[in-house]
Amino acid sequence: MPIRLRVDGREVVLERPTTILNAARAAGVDVPSLCYDERLDPYGSCRLCLVEVKGRGLVAACTTPAEDGMEVETETPEVVRHRRQILSMLAERYPAGQAPGRLGELLRRYGVEPSGVEDPRLVDDRHPWIGVDLNRCVLCFNCVRACEGYVGRLIWRAAYRGRQTLVIPETGSLSTSSCISCRACVDVCPSGAIFDKVMASARPTAWGQAACSLCSVSCPVRVGYEGDRPVYVEVVNDGAGPSAAGCLKGRYRWEDLVYVPERPQASLLRRDGRLVPVSTDEALDEVARALREAAREDPRSVGVIVASRLPMEAYYLAQLVARVGLGTNNVDVAASLLPSYREAVELAGSPLSTMPLERLSRSRTIVVVGGGLEEAHGGLGHFVRLRALHGEARLVLVAPEGDRLASAADVHLATGELAGALRALESALVDLGLARPTAGGGELSSRAFSLRGRHRDLSSSAGLDVRVVEEAARLISDGPTSFVLELNDEEGVYREAYVLAELSGNIGREGAGVVPLLSAYDNAEGSLAGVAPDRLPGLVGLEERGRFEEAWRARVPDEPGMSTGEILEAAAEGRMRALLVVGELASPSRLREQILEALRRVPFVATVGPLASTTTLSASRAHLLSASHVEEEGVYMAVDGTLRLAKGTRARAPAMRAWEIMSSLLSRLGHWRRYGSASEAWDELRSLVPWLSGATYERLSAGPLRALPRSGEGIGPRP
Ligand code: FES
Repeated sequence: MPIRLRVDGREVVLERPTTILNAARAAGVDVPSLCYDERLDPYGSCRLCLVEVKGRGLVAACTTPAEDGMEVETETPEVVRHRRQILSMLAERYPAGQAPGRLGELLRRYGVEPSGVEDPRLVDDRHPWIGVDLNRCVLCFNCVRACEGYVGRLIWRAAYRGRQTLVIPETGSLSTSSCISCRACVDVCPSGAIFDKVMASARPTAWGQAACSLCSVSCPVRVGYEGDRPVYVEVVNDGAGPSAAGCLKGRYRWEDLVYVPERPQASLLRRDGRLVPVSTDEALDEVARALREAAREDPRSVGVIVASRLPMEAYYLAQLVARVGLGTNNVDVAASLLPSYREAVELAGSPLSTMPLERLSRSRTIVVVGGGLEEAHGGLGHFVRLRALHGEARLVLVAPEGDRLASAADVHLATGELAGALRALESALVDLGLARPTAGGGELSSRAFSLRGRHRDLSSSAGLDVRVVEEAARLISDGPTSFVLELNDEEGVYREAYVLAELSGNIGREGAGVVPLLSAYDNAEGSLAGVAPDRLPGLVGLEERGRFEEAWRARVPDEPGMSTGEILEAAAEGRMRALLVVGELASPSRLREQILEALRRVPFVATVGPLASTTTLSASRAHLLSASHVEEEGVYMAVDGTLRLAKGTRARAPAMRAWEIMSSLLSRLGHWRRYGSASEAWDELRSLVPWLSGATYERLSAGPLRALPRSGEGIGPRP
């Protein structure tokens, strides 16, 4: 039963229980808060979120449950008087001058001036990236809770008592502590006591727009540069997809790709067993020579594997390197190593989501399958958490015990047997008479009907309480329901989730669908630009190669090439002579050692990436230094087909953008066309793929567009 209440006279309808604070936020009412952070459990220490509940008086909104029929006032004279009093007490100790962050906003809003005196003994500047000024600490304990809850560490702790209480790092200084510089504490500090020194001192002189390539949601980011040096990144909301302001990865992880000591300062060639820096031209010449010679011997013994997220132009040119430059269809994304990629292509026709991500905001129930959504796809995980916390959607979590989303879930099916749990849910839907198969989706649904009468058995085989499974089945049937899948290398999870979605009538329905996200090798969309052994750009079969051959003025082999798994198998058997590997192929996988072993058996492996990765260091004969995603340009495609243009970015020489590397290789391999810019490659791709034809750089400069590969309707307006 939905819960109805009034906040400042506005009616709020909640799908699920939540606090008054979240109910108010769902209604667009801004209740001040300092110690509350939706990523952490409510703590209730600052009391700034006090509100007046009719018949009950003042209560803390962040810890008090919203109840049916409640009448809440958030800015009565009494409430305001209390807030001013609390802020005045904080301001007495807070150093005089402008306060940053949420505290600064509240001080200004309630007209309170800080007047404390700075004690230099409480300032610690010794950590390379994180600054600490405990004069500014308001004892919200957010850093303590974030460090423990998000990172599993206990760097921050309380010391002393009463008015002397301080929150300090374990060794007294962050610089000597076991801090891993993740910045979770920086992100949750509301008062500027813990801050990012790089971001705080950044004075960007130019800005570019890019898409974050650290996961397949590809959120838009603004990048600030001092000269050609990226110094600031913020995740922005362009209205398409979830707003990912809460994603730590998007805000901070780019530094790993730009500033770590391991980032080579030049392209590399292996000489006498060691990788030594060389000029980019020298490295390109060597790579082209080795690939060409191997292809001349036998084109089936060369291949291209793309293991990182790239702009579509770079994917497109990478498949041209294979097909036109080397005469082979041995080109594939690393995503195909995961069974879920193959299951998605088989069942849904493409590895993309069956729904636009922003339509998740219309889902009544969201089912998250798989652990670690908030870690791997932070923006989307944060969005799901907020929907649940704000009482806007019910959350069913199918994930192992201890998953971070569990605290926000209505029902948690705590198991590592994901496919088994999904089968139990299918059976429960049938047994409880809740199945409503999608019209026309008969075959899979009838397979699910064969599970009739088995939901008890299946629940216990997956280690689940049957009542919890039944409760989850009821929520799923009360849709629209979306299924967000955090997929690893377990067989059958995508398949069962798709069957469940179909069985509950949630395929092709507004606010419903299946969103497949890959925990590793998150680059399934590359196949839409032709990085696939049996598909040309646009997911077109090889039998239609005629018009591509005409455009490329080159023959395309008619036999399908090898998939990534098959290439690695051939490598392990000594059948591959040369490979071009873009991105980190080995380390994200449980198969790491096998992959490295296979690559070591290939006489010539060239790698491309911003870092000298594990693959580079142990198997590469040549490494081409590429730009990181905050330096890239071109069109990124998100998991739901959303296209975003990265432009105005700067690449630090001698790193080259991925499209430039591919186009330089193509020239050296004898291709007639010279691509002078990413847009030339994009325009050629658009001319070959009808559903991309409307997505000009000009239109994309104005905002994101959605590609609709399935319907064949071309570029769609954002819904
Ligand atoms: Fe509610 Fe701090 S925000 S007590």
